[in-house]
Amino acid sequence: MSSPAVTVSRDETLSEAARRMHGSHVGSVVVTVDGCASGMVTERDLLRATATGGDPTVIKVGEVMSSPVDTVTRHLPARVAMLQMRERGFRHVPVVDELDHVIGVISLRDLMRVADIALDTEIVEVPRGLKGVVVAETEVGDVRGREGFFHYRQYDATELARKSTFEDVWFLMFEGRLPTAQERAAFVAEASLLRTLPSAVAAVLPMLAGAVAPDTSLAALAGVLAMVGAVDGARPVLDLTPAERRRDALRLCALTPTVLCALHRLKMGEAPLTPRPDLGHAANYLWMLSGEVPDPELARAVETYLILTVDHGFNASTFTSRVITSTGASVPAAVAGALGALSGPLHGGAPSRALAALDEIGSPDRIDEWVRERIISGEKLMGFGHAVYRTEDPRSALLKEVAVSLGGPLVDFAQQVEQHVVAMLNELKPGRKLYANVEFYAGVVMDRCGLPRDMFTPTFALSRVVGWCANILEQAVDGKIIRPSARYVGPPPPQPIPPST
Ligand SMILES: CC(C)(COP(=O)(O)OP(=O)(O)OC[C@H]1O[C@@H](n2cnc3c(N)ncnc32)[C@H](O)[C@@H]1OP(=O)(O)O)[C@@H](O)C(=O)NCCC(=O)NCCS
Repeated sequence: MSSPAVTVSRDETLSEAARRMHGSHVGSVVVTVDGCASGMVTERDLLRATATGGDPTVIKVGEVMSSPVDTVTRHLPARVAMLQMRERGFRHVPVVDELDHVIGVISLRDLMRVADIALDTEIVEVPRGLKGVVVAETEVGDVRGREGFFHYRQYDATELARKSTFEDVWFLMFEGRLPTAQERAAFVAEASLLRTLPSAVAAVLPMLAGAVAPDTSLAALAGVLAMVGAVDGARPVLDLTPAERRRDALRLCALTPTVLCALHRLKMGEAPLTPRPDLGHAANYLWMLSGEVPDPELARAVETYLILTVDHGFNASTFTSRVITSTGASVPAAVAGALGALSGPLHGGAPSRALAALDEIGSPDRIDEWVRERIISGEKLMGFGHAVYRTEDPRSALLKEVAVSLGGPLVDFAQQVEQHVVAMLNELKPGRKLYANVEFYAGVVMDRCGLPRDMFTPTFALSRVVGWCANILEQAVDGKIIRPSARYVGPPPPQPIPPST
C-alpha cells in the first residue's frame, strides 16, 4: 500500500483535491471524517465533473465523491483484496487499522506488482496433495472411501472380480458396457491381433533386457511402449478420430504383457514366447512368463487380482495419464508417463516391499517388536493405509479370501502380521483408520501363484494400463488442458542479473 494516505475533507474543493493528487503522484484521494474513510475521489471523478462544465474551484469534494467506500485491513491477503476490488470495480481502496482509521491506500497496480497476481487468474487455495479436490468429471468409475466401495462404470468392482473375465472388464472399460457373447469374441480376436511386437522393437529387446538394472522393469516397459508408439507412428490424440485413439489404446493394453514377459525371459537368458490365442489374458500372461500352462486356480487368482486393480479413481498415475492427454499428446506418451507415476513406492511399488517386510519379520514372535519400532520411528508400513479408504480396502478383503483359498504357510503368517499391524496402528495412530490395502495381500497372492517379486509392480501395470486407457479416451474428448498454478515462495523478483565473470 502507499502510506500515509492522501486525504481531503468533503468540504474542500475539487481543485484542492486535484492539487494533492498531483503533488503526491497518486490517482485518488481518500475523503475522511475524523480520520475514517467516508468516500473516494479519483482522477476520473475530477474529469467527469469538469468536462460537464463544473467549476473545480467551487464544486465540493462531497458532491462528487464515491460513497460509501470499501476498505481493507492491512492483514487481508493480497489475493483477497484483489478479488474484492475486481468484484466491486474499484482501482483504489483505503487501508484501515483496527479503529477504522485510514492508514494508507492500496491500488490494483500495487497488488499486481507485489503479489504478482494476474488480472484474469482466479487463485483458489487447495489442500496439499489435492486431497479431496475434484478436478474432472468421469464415467469410468469411482471410489467411495468411507463406504469401502469402488466400481467400474457402475458395476461393483469386487463383484466383477468374482464373476467376470478380465477381457469382459477390459471391454467394459473401453466401451462402457459389458459385452454380449458375440462382442466378446470379436473383442478378444481384435486384441489378440494387436499383441505382437513390431519387428524393429522386438529386435532391440535382447540388448535392452541384458542391460537394464534390477527393479527397473517399469522404466523398461515405459521405454518400449514409447518406442512402439514411435514405430507405429502413434499420433497426438488431438489429431485422431475416436476410433483411431481407441485402436492405439487397445494396442498398448494388448502389448503390455508381451513386452513384460519378453523382457523378463530375456533377462533370465530364455527366449520370449509367442502369445497363446487359446488362453485368456491372465493365463496367457503366466504362460508367456514361465512357459507353462498355469493351473486354472492360480490363473484365476491372478485374474482376480488383475480385475481388482484395473482402475481406482483419480489415483496419481491415472491423473498423470489425464494431464498428459489433456495436452493432446499421443496415447503411448500418456501411458509412459503414467508408468513413471506408478513406479513410486507410495503408489504401485508396495507389494514386493510388503512381502520383503514379511521376510524381515520372519516369525510370529518378532511381529510386535518389529512393527512397533517402525511405527514409532515414523516409517510407513508398506501395504497399509490408503489415501481414500477409511475402512478396510475392499480389494484387500477379496485378495485375502483368494490367498486363504490358495493356502500355505505364508498366507497364515501374513494374516497374523495383518492383525498385529492393524491393532498397533490403531493403538499408536488412534483415529486414523488404517487397514491393510490392496498391496499387502497382492504380494502374498502373486507369490503363491509363482510370480517373481520383480514382476509384482509390472503385473499391476498390466491391469492398470486398461484403466489408464479408459481415462485417456475420456480425457481426449474433453479437450481442456489441465494447467494448475503454483504459489511462488522464493525471494521477491526481479533480481538484477549479476555481471558474468
Ligand atoms: C497410501 C499412503 C501414501 C496414503 O497416504 P496419506 O493419504 O498421506 O495417509 P493418511 O493421510 O491417511 O495418513 C494419516 C496418518 O496415518 C499414518 N500412516 C498412513 N499410512 C501408514 C502406514 N502405512 N504406516 C504407518 N503409518 C501410516 C500417516 O503417517 C499419518 O500419520 P500422522 O497423522 O501422525 O501424520 C500411505 O498410507 C502409505 O504410505 N502407505 C504405505 C505405502 C503403500 O502401501 N502404498 C500402496 C497404496 S495402495
